[in-house]
Amino acid sequence: MSHLKPLLYERVANLPSDFSPLSQPAMDYARGVVLCPPDYFDVVDVKNPFMAGMAGTIDRGAARREWEAMREAFARAGAEIVELAPLPGCEDMVFCANTAFLAVDERGAKTCVPSRMTFASRRAEVAPMLAWAASSGYRIAEAGEASLRFEGSGDAIWHPGRRLIWGGYGWRTDPRVYPALAEALGVPVIGLPLTNSTYYHLDTCFCPIDERTVLLHAPAIAAEGLDLVRRAFERVVDVDSDEAEGFACNATAFFGRVVVIDRRAAQTAARLRSMGYEVIEVDTGEFLKSGGSVYCMKNAFF
Ligand code: ARG
Repeated sequence: MSHLKPLLYERVANLPSDFSPLSQPAMDYARGVVLCPPDYFDVVDVKNPFMAGMAGTIDRGAARREWEAMREAFARAGAEIVELAPLPGCEDMVFCANTAFLAVDERGAKTCVPSRMTFASRRAEVAPMLAWAASSGYRIAEAGEASLRFEGSGDAIWHPGRRLIWGGYGWRTDPRVYPALAEALGVPVIGLPLTNSTYYHLDTCFCPIDERTVLLHAPAIAAEGLDLVRRAFERVVDVDSDEAEGFACNATAFFGRVVVIDRRAAQTAARLRSMGYEVIEVDTGEFLKSGGSVYCMKNAFF
């Protein structure tokens, strides 16, 4: 079977007829996560629909306890933990996924692709992530024109264990970034157009668990994208609106074996357990007020 070229693929018809993610070269799972403690976490404006009416409602003590329990769950799952120092005035810095995409390029070099944040108030979060990456042996590689928005691991998601990236776009990321990302890393990107402002990052509606299995809230992705997802994954766990709005698809899988998920996603958790995964439930209630949960409160590194 042939490997895909490092291009953006947006239609099933453009994929080779024998395409399967399992024919892409294998790749190590991420070994750890970058986190940022919620010292200055707050809701001060409305960047996504979940934040409406939430200004001034954050309980920082509760947020700290939830975040520590989540960090503990990541450690139990076997992930190495790195913490960035929080910056005053950066109220969304706990959402580490958004400020960069961490990768291994085709020559095996650890590569960090910086984000270009949609909201000016989040732009100061990028430098500390890049500083950590550079000091940890990552080369820094920009993808695409400086004017094109890109929100890192919130929209660009690795296919677990394979050299293949899923690229969501439409709200926070410009699709014109993805051909450049594919070229910079030597990895094909499959584009997924997001259709509903509630699901404004790909990590709110699409969560690969292992190389054959994905959690999906289908109404959030345009039809041509759904064709690609259903073509690529043998097992699609469809998540209904109730659980998707509670961020069931913002779960995080480690090593294709352990899933950390918000406790509101009871049905999804039960389904994952019946499929043989270890599931650790956590409470991210304070962070849901800002439109984020488990997946986006970390950036996975190699
Ligand atoms: N309040 C943050 C924002 O709107 C939440 C980001 C959540 N990140 C994610 N990848 N889903 O930017």
